[in-house]
Amino acid sequence: MRSTPFTFDISLPGGVPTVYDGTDVLIRIVRPLSAMRGQYADQEAYEALLAQGDTILYEVYEMRRPQVADEYIEIADGYIEIADEYIEVADAHVGLGELLHGTSIVHPGKVGDEYFMTKGHFHSVLDTAEVYYVLQGRGMMVMETPEEEWAVKELRPGRVLYVPPRWAHRSVNTGQGDLVFLFVYPAHAGHDYGTIETRGFRKLVVARDGQPHIVDNPRWCAQE
Ligand code: F6R
Ligand code: ZN
Repeated sequence: MRSTPFTFDISLPGGVPTVYDGTDVLIRIVRPLSAMRGQYADQEAYEALLAQGDTILYEVYEMRRPQVADEYIEIADGYIEIADEYIEVADAHVGLGELLHGTSIVHPGKVGDEYFMTKGHFHSVLDTAEVYYVLQGRGMMVMETPEEEWAVKELRPGRVLYVPPRWAHRSVNTGQGDLVFLFVYPAHAGHDYGTIETRGFRKLVVARDGQPHIVDNPRWCAQE
């Protein structure tokens, strides 16, 4: 693995990064509408839109630092329940302290009156934070903790958002064009999608008279 400094560029408008100094460590994740079954409040509108085609809701480009990230995902899966053991293995790992980072591009659109959005997740290692820097577009970040606190912050170009440890996060595109942001988070964080898939977020962002509004999620389930 490289241990000298290296650079990449993000073209704007657009948000697709180049690879690091020509080194191929960039991965692309594409999330279509079909990956979001059960996540939108208006299920009829969801099925109707899906029937028209499996449109792409968002794309993520991530600099993987490959040897580090792949091993960390396994380690995180194997050991997150047992904190001491996890720390022991992570401490012994050469990649401890690495940061994963890249760009997300959330396309504009709505399912019913709910805007296109990311799946959203807790980090598997709950005590890991994340930084977002908005490059393009308009949106909201919807966040909540296992303790049932919630927060929604506006996203606009030039704005930095710090997501503290323990806060699940979902980005929502409330604008007319793509919402593009840079993200950076600890390489061992991992992603827990299951909790959100099961209980949803406490708050939804919906269009009312053409403007974004934060409303309660009628289908939100409190954690046991
Ligand atoms: C990484 C992170 C972002 C998201 C991305 C897509 O921890 O928060 O890079 O992964 O914006 O969202 P999800 O992962 O929720 O599909
Ligand atoms: Zn995250």
